[in-house]
Amino acid sequence: MLNEKYWYHRETGEAIGELTPSIAIKDAIENGLIKEAYQVIGQGKEAFVFWGKDYENRLVAVKSYKIHRTTHRETINKTFRSSPYEVISHFAKLEYYKTLDMFKLGLSVPQPYNRLTYSFSMELIGDADGPAPLLSDIKKDSLISSDEILEQVIDILHNMFQGQWVHGDFSEHNLMFYNDKIYVIDFLQSKNFALKDAVPYGNNLIALSRAVRILHKDLKSILPFFKRCYRLSVDYDEVLNYIIGNYKKKIDKVLEDCSESSYSEFNKLS
Ligand SMILES: Nc1ncnc2c1ncn2[C@@H]1O[C@H](COP(=O)(O)OP(=O)(O)O)[C@@H](O)[C@H]1O
Ligand SMILES: [Mg+2]
Repeated sequence: MLNEKYWYHRETGEAIGELTPSIAIKDAIENGLIKEAYQVIGQGKEAFVFWGKDYENRLVAVKSYKIHRTTHRETINKTFRSSPYEVISHFAKLEYYKTLDMFKLGLSVPQPYNRLTYSFSMELIGDADGPAPLLSDIKKDSLISSDEILEQVIDILHNMFQGQWVHGDFSEHNLMFYNDKIYVIDFLQSKNFALKDAVPYGNNLIALSRAVRILHKDLKSILPFFKRCYRLSVDYDEVLNYIIGNYKKKIDKVLEDCSESSYSEFNKLS
């Protein structure tokens, strides 16, 4: 059974305290998500991640969302959710399915395995010695072929964009390095986009021009990292054009329409 205290609060919607890693691990084991837990890997503001083994004897990473004050009585995806427990369960579900979509596209991401309320399990990037390091944790002189790594990173952005996804928090802190390969993680804020700007209200897809803005933000986060740490400079426009590939025409068109409409708004005002 899930921890009774949380079921109770789920029913009553009362304010509840922090969900600690030990509660999440206990729930994960009692409900069959994992068989053994080894260690907490990371603790962020919204979630923590621990690693262990599941019943199929796979090494897994489990991400559990935390209850924090700001998730209380929040409106998510146009649904009013009164219980913070429901909010974090919704986050876990969203990230699980987004990771699954990326995985199905063949991107270099951990394979998601199972889901349990506010947690989900996925392939551990790493091995029996433990999780692989983040790109941000690698000693600068130990990465021999940094130019190849940068190429992999740009290819991931290209493949993601061609699959109509933007990451939204693409930095050295969400890239892992294992067996000479880069893996992307952390998809809660990732967005699936339409190939136009006119998307009906309530649609899951975001507008193309918004996706382009997110892509710029991601590039402006990761490219300076390679310059700062590995003295690798690239031509920004060349990289951008490679990532957007055949969508360039559509993008130029929506951006032109955007500037036209802001021009006519401006004319109306003046
Ligand atoms: N599949 C995975 N395999 C190994 N480690 C992982 C995996 N997913 C996440 N981690 C570790 O957990 C940390 C936090 O995960 P992340 O999804 O980035 O959460 P946050 O939202 O807190 O940033 C990462 O920095 C990484 O070290
Ligand atoms: Mg992260």
